Amino acid sequence: MEETNDETQRRLEYSKDILFVTYKNPKSAIEKAFSLFQDGSPNVLEIGGGNTIQTTLMALGNPDVNFITTDIYADRPGVPEYAYNTAQWYSGKLLAQVNPPERTRNLSVLRVSADDALQKIAPDKSINKILIVHPELEVLNSILTMVLRPNVESVLRPDWEIIVKPYKPISQNKRTEQLLRGFMVGDHLDELYGVNLSEHVPKSGVSNEHAISLTKK
Ligand SMILES: C[S@@+](CC[C@H](N)C(=O)[O-])C[C@H]1O[C@@H](n2cnc3c(N)ncnc32)[C@H](O)[C@@H]1O
Repeated sequence: MEETNDETQRRLEYSKDILFVTYKNPKSAIEKAFSLFQDGSPNVLEIGGGNTIQTTLMALGNPDVNFITTDIYADRPGVPEYAYNTAQWYSGKLLAQVNPPERTRNLSVLRVSADDALQKIAPDKSINKILIVHPELEVLNSILTMVLRPNVESVLRPDWEIIVKPYKPISQNKRTEQLLRGFMVGDHLDELYGVNLSEHVPKSGVSNEHAISLTKK
């Protein structure tokens, strides 16, 4: 028993080191994320949260759900928004970072790749839902490849669900459809946690129309 606790503790310290040393997350952000992973409330791990506007709105409207939003926050040539979000993250100015802590007890932001978030950071059985909003197609496919791998269930709680909101209907892409074999694809969701994206992210000009929910068949 003691060995198991030691092993869990070592894994936790290793995860925190990666977030601090490799991804330069502030220690306070790391501690907050782990307290949300582990406090037993329903939680959502968002991958590729970008400017965090929609996630902050979801967190403010759903105080009983924990939101851990993650993004790789790296520049990409030709995509000025990524450089902007990265600079905002470094200076602690993303919406999710500036909200007063008493209003956003249930929200945390981590800089980490999708891969590392799922394989090295999330503690065992710590995630209820994975949320992916507006990824580029190749990012969606690489994230789905990883998210849908058989051993991902080790970090998911038994009632897990994956919510994907792509730019286009998933049925327009063969590779994505192949990846989704073995999963139930639910109806599109009119709203994600009460947030209509087309109202709150006007620049993107998209709605929730193609959002789907995935669970194991
Ligand atoms: C098109 S943006 C969508 C941002 C946000 N979800 C929205 O709807 O406004 C895609 C985001 O995915 C992030 N991203 C790309 N590759 C990633 C990866 N491997 N792991 C985590 N995030 C990644 C990018 O930095 C970017 O912020």
